[in-house]
Amino acid sequence: MPSKCTFGILWMEKYLYMITSLDVYRCIREYENVSSEKLLDFKKTSKNYKAYGLKRNPFPYVGVPEDAIPLYADRKKELKMIEEVIKSSLQNVSCHAALIGSYGNGKTHTLKYLKRQIENQLEDVVVVYISNPGDRVLSLYSNFMHEFGFQRLEELVWKFLEFATGEKSLRKKVNEGEVLLPEILEIGKRRLLNEIKYTDFATAFLKLTMEECKFLAWKYLCGESIISDYRRELDVVSAIDNDEKALRAFMSLKRILALLGNKLLCLLIDEFESIEYLHPILKQKILNGIRHLIDLNPQGFCLIIGCAPEVWVDIVKEYHAFSDRIFRQITLKALSEKDMRDFIAAYLKNSRLDDADPPNEIFPFTDDAITEIHRAAEGNIRRMLMICNQAIDAGIEHDIPEITSAKLRELLPDLFETVES
Ligand SMILES: Nc1ncnc2c1ncn2[C@@H]1O[C@H](COP(=O)(O)OP(=O)(O)O)[C@@H](O)[C@H]1O
Ligand SMILES: [Mg+2]
Repeated sequence: MPSKCTFGILWMEKYLYMITSLDVYRCIREYENVSSEKLLDFKKTSKNYKAYGLKRNPFPYVGVPEDAIPLYADRKKELKMIEEVIKSSLQNVSCHAALIGSYGNGKTHTLKYLKRQIENQLEDVVVVYISNPGDRVLSLYSNFMHEFGFQRLEELVWKFLEFATGEKSLRKKVNEGEVLLPEILEIGKRRLLNEIKYTDFATAFLKLTMEECKFLAWKYLCGESIISDYRRELDVVSAIDNDEKALRAFMSLKRILALLGNKLLCLLIDEFESIEYLHPILKQKILNGIRHLIDLNPQGFCLIIGCAPEVWVDIVKEYHAFSDRIFRQITLKALSEKDMRDFIAAYLKNSRLDDADPPNEIFPFTDDAITEIHRAAEGNIRRMLMICNQAIDAGIEHDIPEITSAKLRELLPDLFETVES
């Protein structure tokens, strides 16, 4: 039996042990905290840009245009030219253009901005942006349909049925049992087959009204392959599975749109330079297919392609039949120093605090910093945005009151060393 004293010693040992363990534990925690603070801190995200009179870093972290396009700077001359192309197309004669510019000079941004503007300003115009032409007319058609969207197509079929039957609010009436769907589909089919000769397309289009097979019809209309059982269910003979059928399907849709009052179908195809990677036969085929599309649509169609200059030069040289049909060529050149200053000012203005009173429109940058950025970016917008984005963050991080040319080199040595050397 241990004595009282032994108990006391044991207890003290245990107590001491606990204290030391706690200390060690605390030390480890502190070490962990200190080291994690020093190395990585994912929680500390919000920087305060107030010192520069800004709400946030005005320059994007990723040099890829958003769909909403919050800002469109400068490029007035080029926009005017595009405006002319759209206006000519609206006056009933199709007009097409190529938007030529090196990587990072604003082709995607311009096409997306154009889409938004057309949608906001014009009624009865359908504008579809496709990020890539794909490798054949069939894939172009497929991309077109996906961008056109299920909902828009579903609305279109009901609109068409209202047009064919002369009844209003048809969908509601069918849902409430006031009108029988098979009866109006019969009227719709008769009317539609007067207008378009592609029976399978017409059948699948009308099937978009039927809950049980509308997604199948949508898949079919997008040119996706569907098994024969499903085709039977849809009551169509063959799939839209080659360029010729894709063209006919596109023309059928355009006809339906025109019938319902659409004045213009505007197709914006980005990254046209990707056709350069196609086998020469495929390349020839897709260019021929698009040429065909242009020829089939002397009215109510406007095609604008975004393309890198190297590839466009080759197309002009080798594929006259295609390039001759694109009358307008609009070039997005690298920015001059003055243009770049305006661009930077526009981005800064877009993020200024309401109560900010900056010494000038380019603050926190100085004039010599703009010269330096222009030189390093070689007039390229994407590179300029990347430099400005990093400069602003580094400037705030290091409490730099004003970003001068010297400070830029100091803050971002990696970005400026190529210019130095
Ligand atoms: N006119 C403009 N106004 C504002 N930002 C632009 C403008 N043009 C391009 N940008 C921006 O520059 C970057 C590169 O443009 P982008 O359209 O992707 O170039 P490209 O498609 O020619 O490679 C993107 O972040 C884009 O948002
Ligand atoms: Mg692009």
